[in-house]
Amino acid sequence: EPNTDKHPRRAFLKWLWAGLGTLAFIEVLVVMFSFLSPGKKKKTADQASAEWVDAGITDNYEPGSVTAFVQGRFYLVLLESGGFLALSNRCTHLGCSIPWESDQKKFICPCHASQFDMAGKVLTSPAPRAMDIFPVKIVNNRLFVNIASRIRRQAFHPDQLVFPDQLKLRDPQS
Ligand code: FES
Repeated sequence: EPNTDKHPRRAFLKWLWAGLGTLAFIEVLVVMFSFLSPGKKKKTADQASAEWVDAGITDNYEPGSVTAFVQGRFYLVLLESGGFLALSNRCTHLGCSIPWESDQKKFICPCHASQFDMAGKVLTSPAPRAMDIFPVKIVNNRLFVNIASRIRRQAFHPDQLVFPDQLKLRDPQS
């Protein structure tokens, strides 16, 4: 063991490295903590409501229909089952926007010809997974789509469908 009193330069370097190591460690902690801590920026009520796009009354949609919302970059789909789904218009292959081909009843990507069915399920690759969806909520028979919260999914699942509140549609006399 070298006597640090006799080697002041070595002692100084030792302290320097220890100090730098501690700083790096603290920096890692700070970065980790900033990832873990919940969003610092609180959204205002205005911002939060701007994320929910009003898609109109549920009765305006025909079962088996696909309606494009160009501004919101999504399609509102009403399946024959009566369930609603909001599909992102971006291809899950490389992100091209995908038109709905109503005559073929498919989404066909113009870039590399991936095809998806009405529920966004992949029919033809190279698309690796089903079209992304956005949360849908129905309030008093009015549809709202949250365009700020894209949801990735591997495949279509019936749980993803949103149904109008049947109780509200029922005749109160019966
Ligand atoms: Fe759609 Fe490639 S981007 S198939």
